[in-house]
Amino acid sequence: MPIKNFQGDEAEGILVAIDGPAGSGKSSVARVSAERLGVVDLNTGATYRAVALLSIKEGVPPTDGAALARIARRVELDGERVSVDGDEVPEGALRTPEVSAAASKVSSNPELREVLVGVQRRAAWKARAEGGAVVEGRDIGTVVLPDADVKVFLSASAEERARRRASQSGREDEIERITAAIRQRDKQDTERAASPLKPAPDAVVVDTTSMSLDEVVSSVLALAGRVREGA
Ligand code: DC
Repeated sequence: MPIKNFQGDEAEGILVAIDGPAGSGKSSVARVSAERLGVVDLNTGATYRAVALLSIKEGVPPTDGAALARIARRVELDGERVSVDGDEVPEGALRTPEVSAAASKVSSNPELREVLVGVQRRAAWKARAEGGAVVEGRDIGTVVLPDADVKVFLSASAEERARRRASQSGREDEIERITAAIRQRDKQDTERAASPLKPAPDAVVVDTTSMSLDEVVSSVLALAGRVREGA
């Protein structure tokens, strides 16, 4: 049965945009939703992290937009694989606290964002042609894929997000420091001039503070199901 998008046009596959702040559960929700829908999970944060990693390695300051944009042109996203100069970047190298902090800084740069939005769109269109994708990030519904079939914006209190982060990494004793770091990243992400973190006007906002992962995934699947049925 052909898949239809909200406009009722036949499309090759579904595109589900999932945006939200750090620790809102985006990555888990996107991963499980993608699995259940049988589509690719595209993590756009990984492209910012790849640029941040290279900028640290190559000594590029987080304010040098032209140099960051040059680095971004070397980054590719293909399904769940992120590569630089054609070589896959291991997940572990992208997830260090140093790279997280640098990614938040470099991502406020508009020249860099312009290049990475292109990288992310190409990855999403390729995935769509191959069956569809769940695309997670901060500006997917607003900037990267304004025509996504489903747009979900996940929110949760800073305390709850810190609690989830701490229990995932066994750092319950550091809860105060983690809450402060999350508030700092929220501030950077929501106050930046270039593509600040905010829900698209047509996004469904889901407050996950007291929801389980399964409950959140079920709401994403219900929205995707309506698109697939052409409702
Ligand atoms: O989702 P994440 O924590 O891996 O993202 C890393 C950083 O990249 C985060 O500080 C926000 C930024 N980012 C962004 O600005 N736009 C996106 N679409 C995805 C991530």
